[in-house]
Amino acid sequence: MKAAITAVAHNVPPDVYDNVWFESKIDTNDEWIKTRTGITERHFAFEGGVTDILLPAAKSVLEQRGLTPEDIDLIILATITPDRVFPSSAAILQRKLGATNAWGFDLAGACSGFLYALVTGAKMVESGAVKRALILGGDKMSSILNFEDRTTCVLFGDGGGAVLLEATDDDTFGVVDHILRMDGRGEDFLHQKAGGSLRPPTIETVTNREHFVYQEGQAVFKSAVKGMADVSFEIMQRNELTADDVAWLVPHQANLRIIDATADRMGLSRDKVMINIDRFGNTTAGTIPICLSELHINKKVAKGDYVVLSSFGAGYTWGSVLIRWAIDT
Ligand code: COA
Repeated sequence: MKAAITAVAHNVPPDVYDNVWFESKIDTNDEWIKTRTGITERHFAFEGGVTDILLPAAKSVLEQRGLTPEDIDLIILATITPDRVFPSSAAILQRKLGATNAWGFDLAGACSGFLYALVTGAKMVESGAVKRALILGGDKMSSILNFEDRTTCVLFGDGGGAVLLEATDDDTFGVVDHILRMDGRGEDFLHQKAGGSLRPPTIETVTNREHFVYQEGQAVFKSAVKGMADVSFEIMQRNELTADDVAWLVPHQANLRIIDATADRMGLSRDKVMINIDRFGNTTAGTIPICLSELHINKKVAKGDYVVLSSFGAGYTWGSVLIRWAIDT
C-alpha cells in the first residue's frame, strides 16, 4: 500500500507588495531583487495567523474529495511561524476546521517542513495507522521579518497550502521514494535569535530586534546549491529515472539561481521546472504545496507523471521526494 496525494490546494493573503514598495523603506531596488533572487512581488498578511492562511486550503482539499472534516484522522502542519508557541497550530486548525476525529502536531522543518511532513504523513498512511492525513505547509513570514534589514525582508512572503494523503492500492502511484537530510551546523547561518527557551522575550531582545530572521545569505546559498542539487540528482539515479522520465521538478522557491543549479544537475530543461518565486517570494514551508496546487489548477500535471520535490532550509534541513501523480487531470 502506498500513500498518494488525492487533493491539493493553496492560499495566499490578498494584499500584494511589489519590489518598488520596499524602495521607500530600505536601500534597495527592483533590479537588485529581481536579478539576485527572481522575486518580483510577494503577499503579506499583517493581520491573522498562519492558520488563517491555511484554513481555506484545508477546506478546499476536503471539498475536492467530497469529504467532511470528521473524515480526517491526522493533521501535520509544517511551519516556523505558528499562531502561538502553544497549543500547536495543528490543534488550532483542527478546531477551526471542525476535524474532531483528528490528532496531530506541528513540524518545524523550516523550508523543508512540508517535505518532512509529507513523508511522515505518508508513512502513517502506509502503515495503516491512519486512513486520511491532512498535510499542510505554510508560513506567515511577515511576522518574523525585520523590515529594516534589506538582506532578508525582500526575500520572503506569506502563504501556504495543503494536500490530502490517502491510501492507494496501486503501488505505482503516490509517494514513491524520499531522501531527507539534516545538518545542525547550519544553525549558525540561519536562525531566529530570541523567542525560544534559550533566549525568552525581554525588552532587550525586542529592542535589539532579535525576534526576526537572521541569515548569512552567501553561506546558506553555497550549501543550498549543493544540498538541493545532490539529493535531486540522487533520487533520480536510484529510481533509474532519466530527465525524460521526470515531468516536473518542484523546487523550494528561495532563489532562482539555486533552482537553476538544481535543474542543471538533473539535466532538466526549464519547461519542466515549476517556478512561481516571482509572484510569491519564499513562503518557507508554503512554497512546495503552492507550486503543486498551481500545477494542478492549471492542469499541467497529469496522472502518472513523475514529480521530484526538492528543498533546502534552516537547520540545515534538505531533501527530495519522488511522487507519481495520482489525481486525474
Ligand atoms: N538590495 C540591494 N542590495 C542588497 C540587498 C538588497 N535587498 N541585500 C543585500 N544587498 C547588497 C549587500 O549588502 C552586498 O553589498 P556589498 O557588496 O556592498 O557588501 C551585495 O548586495 C551583495 O550581497 P550578497 O549577500 O553577496 O548577495 P547574494 O548574491 O549572495 O544574494 C541572497 C543574497 C540572500 C539573495 C542569496 O545569498 C541567497 O539567496 N541565499 C540563500 C537563501 C536561501 O536559500 N535560504 C534558505 C531558505 S530560507
